[in-house]
Amino acid sequence: MEGRPLPDQFPLEPTPSLSVETVVSVRHWNDFLFSFTITRPPSFRFRSGEFVMIGLMGDNGRPLLRAYSMASPAYDEVLEFLSIKVPDGPLTSRLQKIKEGDHIYLGRKPTGTLVADALLPGRRLFLLGTGTGLAPWMSLIRDPDIYDRFEQIAVVHSVRGVSDLAYRDMLEARLADDPLVGEMAAERLTYIPTVTRETFHTNKRIEGLMLDGTLFQGSLGEPKNFDPVHDRVMLCGSMTMIKEVAAMLEGFGFTEGANSHPGEYVIERAFVG
Ligand SMILES: Cc1cc2nc3c(=O)[nH]c(=O)nc-3n(C[C@H](O)[C@H](O)[C@H](O)COP(=O)(O)OP(=O)(O)OC[C@H]3O[C@@H](n4cnc5c(N)ncnc54)[C@H](O)[C@@H]3O)c2cc1C
Ligand SMILES: NC(=O)c1ccc[n+]([C@@H]2O[C@H](COP(=O)([O-])OP(=O)(O)OC[C@H]3O[C@@H](n4cnc5c(N)ncnc54)[C@H](OP(=O)(O)O)[C@@H]3O)[C@@H](O)[C@H]2O)c1
Repeated sequence: MEGRPLPDQFPLEPTPSLSVETVVSVRHWNDFLFSFTITRPPSFRFRSGEFVMIGLMGDNGRPLLRAYSMASPAYDEVLEFLSIKVPDGPLTSRLQKIKEGDHIYLGRKPTGTLVADALLPGRRLFLLGTGTGLAPWMSLIRDPDIYDRFEQIAVVHSVRGVSDLAYRDMLEARLADDPLVGEMAAERLTYIPTVTRETFHTNKRIEGLMLDGTLFQGSLGEPKNFDPVHDRVMLCGSMTMIKEVAAMLEGFGFTEGANSHPGEYVIERAFVG
């Protein structure tokens, strides 16, 4: 329609459910993935592992919002997100072009089940994610609280290609540069990346790594199988992965937890589809 303003010409205005934040930094990992940080309003409180709605102005002059997991821990001054780039995705076809200083909508009500409170106490915590399902793990493992609750923590990240291993250097270094959790992570964090469509030292999907014992490596110790008495599991990513792994866990005697009734494992899909 002639004369119709482009989405970027609508200024972002706060609403009762949305604040307007400023992009602080952007990092592109590859053609499919990027991460960025935004300002955090003083009133914004969340638990590490939760998600929130974020977005831009839609071409109808109304906010275009999508759910995103915080990748930063609850105490951080900025909010960090890890995002897919869907070429024809209504939001991410535009979101991938954001630059420092741009404005973005942030929902005022974070929520979610990938939080320590939804799990019963345990000894080993397994964080199993595909693709952008890594984001909540980056939040949880940078929060000292998780090291108070679990002796050992494993981050398992399944991706198609090597360049999809976002945060790989930081994870391989076990968060060595992190002043708050670096020391604890050095002894108690295990990073298990797997690349399913390119040559890499580990190639199996998560289900395969559960069955062949690969997940029970290094300081994770014994037993070399899932044990509902001591092990806790969080799942995030592809819905088919979640369904398949959840069924395996149920077969091992695990029950699903929620905020209202903690259990031995919790799930959250990282995208619709
Ligand atoms: C609880 C929850 C948390 C989420 N957290 C994140 C997050 O931290 N980071 C993130 O990038 N996305 C996350 N998403 C997905 C996100 O809400 C959007 O779907 C995504 O930003 C794409 O938006 P879009 O408008 O460009 O395309 P959409 O129309 O939303 O999606 C188009 C298609 O792209 C695929 N797709 C969308 N998102 C992803 C993804 N993350 N990984 C793989 N395929 C995908 C799906 O097949 C989908 O049908 C989350 C979704 C939910 C429900
Ligand atoms: N190099 C590329 O071309 C490339 C790379 C990344 C993303 N993308 C694009 O981004 C979109 C999203 O891709 P994505 O890689 O983030 O998500 P994805 O297709 O869900 O794959 C991410 C990881 O999850 C695994 N997985 C998928 N289904 C599973 C299941 N049922 N059980 C266990 N593991 C499972 C995949 O293994 P499998 O490989 O065995 O399926 C892969 O290791 C794609 O549609 C694609 O268009 C393309």
